[in-house]
Amino acid sequence: MQSYINQHKDRFIAELSDLLRIPSVSADSRHKEDVRRAAEFIRGKLRQAGADHTELCETAGHPIVYGEKMIGPDRPTVLVYGHYDVQPADPVNLWETPPFEPVIRQTRLHPDGAIFARGACDDKGQVYAHIKALEGLVAAGNLSCNVKFMIEGEEEVGSDNLGIFVRENKEKLKADVILISDTSILSNDTPSLESGLRGLSYVEVEVTGPNRDLHSGVYGGGVANPINVLCEMIASLKDADGHITIPGFYDEVVELSRAERDELAKASFDQEAYNQDLEIGDVAGEKGYTTPERTSIRPTLDVNGIWGGYTGEGAKTVLPSKACAKISMRLVPQQHPDQITELFKNHFQSIAPATVKVVVKPHHGGHPVVTPTDSVGFRAASQAFEEAWGKKPIPTRGGGSIPIVALFEKELGLKSVLMGFGLDSDAIHSPNEHFGIFNYLKGIETIALFYKHFADLQVK
Ligand code: BES
Ligand code: MN
Ligand code: MN
Repeated sequence: MQSYINQHKDRFIAELSDLLRIPSVSADSRHKEDVRRAAEFIRGKLRQAGADHTELCETAGHPIVYGEKMIGPDRPTVLVYGHYDVQPADPVNLWETPPFEPVIRQTRLHPDGAIFARGACDDKGQVYAHIKALEGLVAAGNLSCNVKFMIEGEEEVGSDNLGIFVRENKEKLKADVILISDTSILSNDTPSLESGLRGLSYVEVEVTGPNRDLHSGVYGGGVANPINVLCEMIASLKDADGHITIPGFYDEVVELSRAERDELAKASFDQEAYNQDLEIGDVAGEKGYTTPERTSIRPTLDVNGIWGGYTGEGAKTVLPSKACAKISMRLVPQQHPDQITELFKNHFQSIAPATVKVVVKPHHGGHPVVTPTDSVGFRAASQAFEEAWGKKPIPTRGGGSIPIVALFEKELGLKSVLMGFGLDSDAIHSPNEHFGIFNYLKGIETIALFYKHFADLQVK
């Protein structure tokens, strides 16, 4: 496989670049046709890689790409999940090069170069590594498992239609394990395997004061300013120790034992380098927990966006009628997204002063997941990493969310293996997203080895 990768790596990079040139932004209806083009592209490449059946499955939203390579009923089956849609590229002016014109540049963490483009790491580069691994294995006549691909175009907007698709296609999706590359490793020197993901509750709040915008001199001082009120309400959601103050918020949180925390702490973490990378004077978070713990095994509450009043050029003296914010809460086992949304809603309404009206609108949510580290899939992934990277991967808990993973478990009865290859510093969802060339090529190698080890372990 290594020699196949070496021989074809320029083409592998060129093909990924072609995919990255398609602005498949699922959230933006102006890109609807681009999203479809990306789906067609993936489908065509799956076919070229050797899939013997491929199709575009229509949904009420963006299509799902399905493809399979079946080699025998006696072989184990791996279902690969990923997404070809990407986050919006805004703010575009903060990109050093245009988001949909991929270029390779070196970075401190990627001395072999990284490919810069929206979706490079999340998730086109990682999905494409799977397609190239299939290509290499088929070319060498070395594929040891049946493979099914399910690549969706709505992950970044909540996967609503994929949920329906999964419920309606249980037979088609029958497999022994789900393999997902849409997470990160600790560093290129320290490979790791995620054994969990956080859940999500996402809400939008609207605070309305007076029935119209007012002159901030004529009325200022006498009428509650909804922006000020919103800020006070938000500020009250955490205490001085960084604990979330919503009653009942922590009721279902599973506290890790000292031993489990010690186990996670084995992954080396350089606080100084972390601060330096982000150019921050200090970190912040819940008292009593380390940065890696705060970003993985603990729940959060964050404002993702806030607006109201005048934000145009110059100064306009105005006391606004409305203020809004988008708030996300990352959840950990056993918190339930609907329950947390309900707790938030009730609490936020209850702390509103009489001077304003508050509306809380729930957006999408997702359940947290933990995956076993002793399953055949996890062990196969661990062996694949060990063989390709020369080091045993450290089990970690991820901070991000892939809400559909919990649904796979519920509807298909399958656990997922989270075998991601990105770095946290690859700027996913941010300007200048990139994916290391090393990570891309090593990813292809690791995926190919996964099939080998999975077939060995599963048959035994
Ligand atoms: N690939 C990410 C999730 C991720 C990133 C998990 C890094 C672990 C490490 C995924 O595409 C994503 O962005 N998910 C969203 C949730 C969704 C409902 C929009 C997220 O985590 O914000
Ligand atoms: Mn992703
Ligand atoms: Mn994402």
